[in-house]
Amino acid sequence: MKLKKMKSKKNIVAKVKIGVLVSGGGTNLQAIIDACESGILKGLAEIVVVISSRPDAYALERAQKHGIHSKPITRRNFDNDASFCAAIAEELKAHSVDLVCLAGFVHMISPEFISRFQGKILNIHPALLPKYGGKGMYGHHVHNAVIKAREKESGATVHWVDEHYDHGDIIIQKKVPVLPDDNCESLAKRVLEAEHKIYPQAILKVIKEKW
Ligand code: GRF
Repeated sequence: MKLKKMKSKKNIVAKVKIGVLVSGGGTNLQAIIDACESGILKGLAEIVVVISSRPDAYALERAQKHGIHSKPITRRNFDNDASFCAAIAEELKAHSVDLVCLAGFVHMISPEFISRFQGKILNIHPALLPKYGGKGMYGHHVHNAVIKAREKESGATVHWVDEHYDHGDIIIQKKVPVLPDDNCESLAKRVLEAEHKIYPQAILKVIKEKW
């Protein structure tokens, strides 16, 4: 968005409009909500729509509790990925979204969607990319692979989304230690805490650089 468009006649800078795509519990969504309401994104950004690929995702309830428009859009109601992603894109456009944040969204997004929101899509991944990324590397698969490889550290990454899995430019990473007695759950918990810190930080960085 051009600076010109962001300023009203009274010279008040409009907030960057965020759309969040989720599929699950939505703890990262919550971190972004909190940052917009009372944290580092206050006055700078607002979540205008939350779209969940699962109608029973707790993330939808989180949005409703904060008065944020939310909508389930389910993959099985569409013939293919392209039409599924096109429906999501329409909803985002209807809310004039400036920035799309994937937060535990479990579907690959279509090339058409990526080109429609070129340079405006962020994702969070529970590892230090480029390690432990790519197809099949999600959730417990990531943490189990890290533990199996006897890594001394893992972490979280916020990155731009391009047409390849977990591939776009990295915006922020945060490391956490892998402890000798860690299991998948204990490591996932530590990484998730890091995710909640860096997702709002990455959004702030992007807003400062782009807007
Ligand atoms: C996070 O670990 C995120 O890195 C991954 O999916 C998980 C989502 O968790 N992409 P939540 O729904 O935000 O709690």
